[in-house]
Amino acid sequence: MATTKTLIKAKLTDNVGIGKDYYVSWFHAPDLIKEINPGQFVMMESGQYLLRPFSVYETKGENAGFLYRVIGGGTSFLSKLKIGNEVLIHGPLGNGFTYPANKKKSILIVAGGIGIATFPLVARVAHERGYKIKTLFGARSKNDLVCTEELRKYGEVESITDDGSSGRKGFVTELLTAELNKNKDQEIFVCGPTPMLKSVIKVCNEFGVIAQVSFEEFMACGYGVCMSCVIKANGKHLRTCVDGPVMRSDIVAV
Ligand SMILES: Cc1cc2nc3c(=O)[nH]c(=O)nc-3n(C[C@H](O)[C@H](O)[C@H](O)COP(=O)(O)OP(=O)(O)OC[C@H]3O[C@@H](n4cnc5c(N)ncnc54)[C@H](O)[C@@H]3O)c2cc1C
Ligand code: FES
Repeated sequence: MATTKTLIKAKLTDNVGIGKDYYVSWFHAPDLIKEINPGQFVMMESGQYLLRPFSVYETKGENAGFLYRVIGGGTSFLSKLKIGNEVLIHGPLGNGFTYPANKKKSILIVAGGIGIATFPLVARVAHERGYKIKTLFGARSKNDLVCTEELRKYGEVESITDDGSSGRKGFVTELLTAELNKNKDQEIFVCGPTPMLKSVIKVCNEFGVIAQVSFEEFMACGYGVCMSCVIKANGKHLRTCVDGPVMRSDIVAV
């Protein structure tokens, strides 16, 4: 569904630390909320020369929330904002996930690392629309298994960590393989770092299933002009900001 893009100065209404290095920043953004499709993102002023891309994590009343891990100048700037501070937000941008036409088809979420940030809204809307949902979540360690309780409100969550500090030691592709061995007929939504996405796409190709994959490439502009976010797909170079971030796994070169 096409959406209208809004450029707003949004006021911070809350900044919540969730575990080590993770925050959810909430902004009063009613015009943005009216237009959001789950899985879309915004470009946000973050005290740096370039705006930074963030998935819409959740909406609450007239507030939009963004979950992030503090890794550099932009995310550090956001984590230190005070209630009432304003930032420029441009969005919603790109395309979101497409829910299956058949309501009986269950949705399998596959998340890696901070890719989880896009799924609470996706899962809540899916739940409200009556889909059965399951989430597979791979993270580096137990400290990075954020918002699992929230996702459990909508369905089963299985997690795995690179270092074995919570649950099984391994990668999310192992959980995906086990799940596809049980049931291939699920709508698969994926988001995470590019190496994880490529591994997930390889598993999907082996099973002959097509997933909807959300790419988190570097983005400098967010609306199709700078070419910083290009990936090879469908034999062409596609811009993940406008042709994605969600793309079909069968068109992406891995
Ligand atoms: C569509 C989209 C949605 C995103 N949604 C979220 C989100 O919801 N929550 C979240 O925490 N992050 C998200 N990201 C990534 C987020 O934009 C970066 O974390 C952010 O730009 C970091 O800014 P910074 O100034 O703090 O770090 P910088 O100083 O810019 O970077 C710090 C370090 O992180 C690396 N880095 C920065 N961005 C990326 C990236 N995209 N991929 C891999 N490495 C990177 C840099 O190379 C550098 O080593 C998203 C990215 C995209 C493209
Ligand atoms: S971020 Fe500039 S073209 Fe995609």
